[in-house]
Amino acid sequence: MTERKFRPVLHALTANPGNEMMRYAQGKDDIITLGQGEGDAPTPDFICEATMRALKDGRTFYGPVLGSNELRQSLSEYYERIYNLDIPSSRVFVTASGSTAMHLSLAALVDKGDEVIAVTPIWKNLLGAVELTQATTKQVALDYVDNEWVLDLDKLFAAINEKTKVLLIVTPSNPTGWTASRDELRAILDFTRERGIWVLSDEVYGRLVYEGVRAPSFLDVAKDDDLLLVVNSFSKSWAMTGWRLGWIVGPHEAEAKIRDVALYNKLCPPTFTQYGAIAALEEGEEFLKQQLKLWHKNRDLVVKRFKKMGNVHMSYPKSTFYAFFKVDGQDDCIEMTKRLIDEAGVLLSPGSAFGEEAKGYIRLCFAVSTERLNEALDRIEAVICK
Ligand SMILES: Cc1ncc(COP(=O)(O)O)c(C=O)c1O
Repeated sequence: MTERKFRPVLHALTANPGNEMMRYAQGKDDIITLGQGEGDAPTPDFICEATMRALKDGRTFYGPVLGSNELRQSLSEYYERIYNLDIPSSRVFVTASGSTAMHLSLAALVDKGDEVIAVTPIWKNLLGAVELTQATTKQVALDYVDNEWVLDLDKLFAAINEKTKVLLIVTPSNPTGWTASRDELRAILDFTRERGIWVLSDEVYGRLVYEGVRAPSFLDVAKDDDLLLVVNSFSKSWAMTGWRLGWIVGPHEAEAKIRDVALYNKLCPPTFTQYGAIAALEEGEEFLKQQLKLWHKNRDLVVKRFKKMGNVHMSYPKSTFYAFFKVDGQDDCIEMTKRLIDEAGVLLSPGSAFGEEAKGYIRLCFAVSTERLNEALDRIEAVICK
């Protein structure tokens, strides 16, 4: 009876196996959780203190729809400092998380009947966000060739058709760590520009790189007025997952449109946390560097230990804090993930959460202390090398 009163789209939502596994592990004793995309370090003090000062100063009121001028300006300066790009603050729209940035972008771009091409494996929530808009999704998978994830541009371009409104791409990628090269970004943008298709690029992991200071961005190769929205977040780089703050960079003409959507959605991003975000941008490089040092060590450890186990295959992730691996002879990743919860006490994320072609893989987030990671790997080894 009540079922019928909800929108049909909610009945049609596809399952979220990652979330199901989290529920499966809930309440079980002594579980090492490497299934979620976050580190175990709390937000650093300098960010919390800036936020507490803002709270004490009474920054507790509604603010501008697209974020405070100070934070938008600070983001503009961040792009100049870190990316060597001239992005005026009027092209930066602050949102209440990267997830919200994605929802607002999709709400501004797609309707029922439109098609979104998504490069997979991809974070399931982004596919869910598209499902809510009632647009359809066509998945184009990266190929796994010689232990590397690669994007076949011809395959991608062949999938684009007259219904395609948006190309959704995550670079660096959760879960594979695949990172588009500048040449690939340029080729994609040349192709979409010619056909009037939007590129919606999620660059939330853009700073989680183990060579250089940042991954190539679509903004490197874009013209100011390209049909391009780049989604980003404070969550991963500065240990701010619980803060719910992100941003979008778009062309000038997007400012009024995103403002309209944001106004009727959140009204504005939270006010006082934006002061913490400014501190993260202006003083957060050393913290990020220290985090990356640990994750670099952890990445090498995971790769080395999986290799030694002999029956595990994975690419060498150049970016992000994920290992996306496959165990020989184990094609049912849900069953394998459940077994690792039950027998190893380790919660990971099943590959089927990341797209049709990712079945059989499992994702491990290595952004924890090296001791905890080693303990988790010992436990995993005891199960998969039995
Ligand atoms: C690709 C991608 N985009 C966005 C997010 C979420 O960002 P936020 O915490 O700002 O919502 C995640 C979180 O795992 C992610 O993997």
